[in-house]
Amino acid sequence: MVSRRFVVASDSHGDEVDPQTESALFSFIADFKPQIRIHAGDAWDFRNLRRGASDDEKAHSLEADWSAGSDFLRRFFDGGKENHFLRGNHDERLWRFAESATGLLRDYAHDGIARVEKIAAKARARMLPYDSRLGVLRLGHLKVIHGYAAGIGAARKHAIVYRNCLFGHTHNTDVAACETDEGIAEARGIGACCKLDMGYNAHQTGKLRHQNAFCYGLLFNDGTYQLNQAKKIDGRFYVASDFRAL
Ligand SMILES: [Fe+2]
Repeated sequence: MVSRRFVVASDSHGDEVDPQTESALFSFIADFKPQIRIHAGDAWDFRNLRRGASDDEKAHSLEADWSAGSDFLRRFFDGGKENHFLRGNHDERLWRFAESATGLLRDYAHDGIARVEKIAAKARARMLPYDSRLGVLRLGHLKVIHGYAAGIGAARKHAIVYRNCLFGHTHNTDVAACETDEGIAEARGIGACCKLDMGYNAHQTGKLRHQNAFCYGLLFNDGTYQLNQAKKIDGRFYVASDFRAL
């Protein structure tokens, strides 16, 4: 059966990217040469644009975050035939501030949006908003979303709402299956490309479930797919960059 190769990575979070995951992902892409490439959101961290950001966070310059996030996206999409960027809740902060009552913030947000749009256009990447209806990418019978539920029930919630899907957002690789009139539906957390220990989550137990990982596979012409996931094991990734049909 005719197939195309795809890769899905998520939550690289600008300058909070995990160097081991980043280098493993790009080395895998160089071998696997996926035609379809999906970044499932939070390409930037934009920590000082968070609602309720501390004075310390607000004092940070965003330039390192901008440059790391932009470089990651450029490299990720370079060589792809069909590129998609799903904005995550962190990326979406720019769009939210574009409506701000504060002129300075509004101007910054508009400049930022133009910057992101330019990167997407240059990479010929279709960009989807962080929106539970409009931010859903269909990859045959599989959907890819940034993620609209968090906590321990997130995978199950996504399986019920979106059926077969890959989601980012939670930074973990939880899997949940649910029964449907068409058989089993499975939701799988993609895992994150960012560091697992960050300033904001030092006291959160939820981060103990976070995992560095990415997904890839084959999409067949009839919409069915073979899905694989590479997870960091003791600082390394073990990937299968070729498939054999038996
Ligand atoms: Fe994230």
